[in-house]
Amino acid sequence: MTRVPFTDLAPMASEVWASIEQDYLASLLGGRYIGGLAVAAFERDWAAYCGADFAVGVANGTDALELTLMALGIGPGDEVIVPANTFIATAAAVVRAGAVPRFADVSDDTLLITPQTLTEAITPRTRAVMVVHLFGQVPDMTALLAVADEAGIALIEDAAQAHGAEWDGRRAGSFGEAACFSFYPGKNMGAFGDAGAVVTSRPDLADRVRVLANHGRSRGTAHYEHDCLGTNSRLDTLQAIALSGKLARIDAWTQRRIAVADRYRAQLGGTGVKLTGVAPSARHVYHLFVVRVADRGGVREELGRRGIETGVHYPLPCHLQPPLRRFANRSLPVAERAAGELLSLPIFPHQTDGQVDLVCEALATALRGRGGIRP
Ligand SMILES: Cc1ncc(COP(=O)(O)O)c(C=O)c1O
Repeated sequence: MTRVPFTDLAPMASEVWASIEQDYLASLLGGRYIGGLAVAAFERDWAAYCGADFAVGVANGTDALELTLMALGIGPGDEVIVPANTFIATAAAVVRAGAVPRFADVSDDTLLITPQTLTEAITPRTRAVMVVHLFGQVPDMTALLAVADEAGIALIEDAAQAHGAEWDGRRAGSFGEAACFSFYPGKNMGAFGDAGAVVTSRPDLADRVRVLANHGRSRGTAHYEHDCLGTNSRLDTLQAIALSGKLARIDAWTQRRIAVADRYRAQLGGTGVKLTGVAPSARHVYHLFVVRVADRGGVREELGRRGIETGVHYPLPCHLQPPLRRFANRSLPVAERAAGELLSLPIFPHQTDGQVDLVCEALATALRGRGGIRP
């Protein structure tokens, strides 16, 4: 039986290794592991790729979110709006910063926050909204920025799943006060371990994040007078070298993800799945290819029997997660219903057309006799 893994990171490492081997080994054997020129070069190049002025490398995407909130002075007494359908880190960062997450429902078509659901969640205590480019798609930033401006709240991008995604020709990372990226290995551009970045065009914010991420030091790593209390969330030199190598390939890998998604879309129409919508102004980079099905448990089981790995992003919306329920103040019907139907199909740059076709055939067979999802 041909197996189709959910993702496969090894071919990306192999593809990139020749171009980074020298720098990687020089750093490894030279004894230089944190910060340095390789980190500065990656930060410069990543900011430019995103269309922003600064990037600050940090330890992971979760820290990027928390440090951004701290740098903006958001904390106790403040509310931050978060879409209900996201990875828990988006909401957890708000709680860890001392603020209160308020949850917004999502579009039934794209599963992203909308100007209307954002507006519904705003209260006099709202200081910011975390706009999540979930699955790799940027929502309508023109309209969301207009709502945020009108309400006088900061817009922060959670771009952990959206390397190179665009709205109206503008890249993820260039819209908000700041944008938070994860380079977790499974992300579209992943490090060889945990890593993240805060991207912004505000020099004061970039400086503040850098100080907070380095124990409150404002003059590099090696002094012991601290300007404020921060944390340890720095980017490792070896990770920066790996990421610079991958940055040179991210556009080709994204093209392949888009081609895989197009092939899925062409074959899955009429099989009873509900496809996730893509706005005409969006360049979706398909971190995940998410469909909705009836009897998800049964469908997953059957796909598993045929050697096809799938995922669920996410089985519970954030406001129903046990540690976050105390912040839920209303029901969010679209996110709640979708959570029972979401199914993520394998997608990765080195996936073959044959593997895509196997998934489509297996899914069509699994859905036969199960009935389609309501439109
Ligand atoms: C939407 C979203 N936000 C935040 C994160 C947190 O990133 P990290 O795992 O690098 O801490 C992730 C990924 O894990 C994510 O998918």
